[in-house]
Amino acid sequence: MSRTRSKPYQPLLLRLLHGINALLIFGAVITGFFVYDSWDGRFGRLSLSQANRSLIDVHGTFGFFLFFIFIIFFVYCIRSGQKRLVQSDSIKKLTLVGKPIWWYTLHRIVNTGTLVAAMLAVVSGKFQDENWLPRGELNHTWYYIHLISWIVIVLAIAMHLLMSAKVGGLPLILSMFDKNYRPADSPTQWFQKIGSWLRRPTL
Ligand code: HEM
Ligand code: HEM
Repeated sequence: MSRTRSKPYQPLLLRLLHGINALLIFGAVITGFFVYDSWDGRFGRLSLSQANRSLIDVHGTFGFFLFFIFIIFFVYCIRSGQKRLVQSDSIKKLTLVGKPIWWYTLHRIVNTGTLVAAMLAVVSGKFQDENWLPRGELNHTWYYIHLISWIVIVLAIAMHLLMSAKVGGLPLILSMFDKNYRPADSPTQWFQKIGSWLRRPTL
């Protein structure tokens, strides 16, 4: 979170997981659009590509890797990144309209919304069948849920970027892509932390 004047710092593990997760989601959003545009197109189409099975395979591959990365990112967010998500007093703070804390609260709610939107896309993706579209089966409930999840995640990411820009500006956005890390945040420390967690696991 951005603090007055000091440069925002994001834990290295967050930057890594968030970055890989975001790349895979962008890949799934783009290839998912191509799949819809070529095989379906009932709600409007750009006809950018021909219906072809390898498009579905490429999308499925993004989805396949995203599934695992998303689970790890999700666990990180609800455990170590908890303070960037919705808080128990968020509703109360939403009454302080226009104050800085109001924007931070909205930012955390939007972060949580983005996480939930991604979960909807990933879970509904798992219920897709790669043969539905080639067989012309366009009316499966899970397919509609998956299509809706495309719109939801695109809107959520747009809000997420706007809110990040609003509360922390460019320094906050760039902090998510910074290559430097503090010594205490070094990957060598992760093994120690995992080791001590394994000796005394806490949920
Ligand atoms: C209009 C948009 C979309 C369409 C038409 C679409 C279509 C499909 C189809 C046909 C499959 C089955 C592919 C296969 O099993 O090989 C699939 C799987 C999947 N999709 Fe999408 N998708 C869309 C958007 C998205 C988005 C936005 C995400 C995530 C952010 C996503 C994540 C997944 C996942 C996780 C799978 C499961 C892959 C697996 O493990 O087998 N999809 N999608
Ligand atoms: C290039 C695109 C993106 C940028 C620039 C970006 C930027 C950021 C920034 C700056 C933060 C830190 C907020 C803070 O410290 O207050 C953040 C956190 C977060 N972002 Fe993104 N984000 C992007 C894409 C995504 C995507 C695709 C997702 C999908 C799930 C996502 C989910 C999250 C979540 C859940 C958090 C909170 C993490 C935590 O709980 O520790 N972001 N993002």
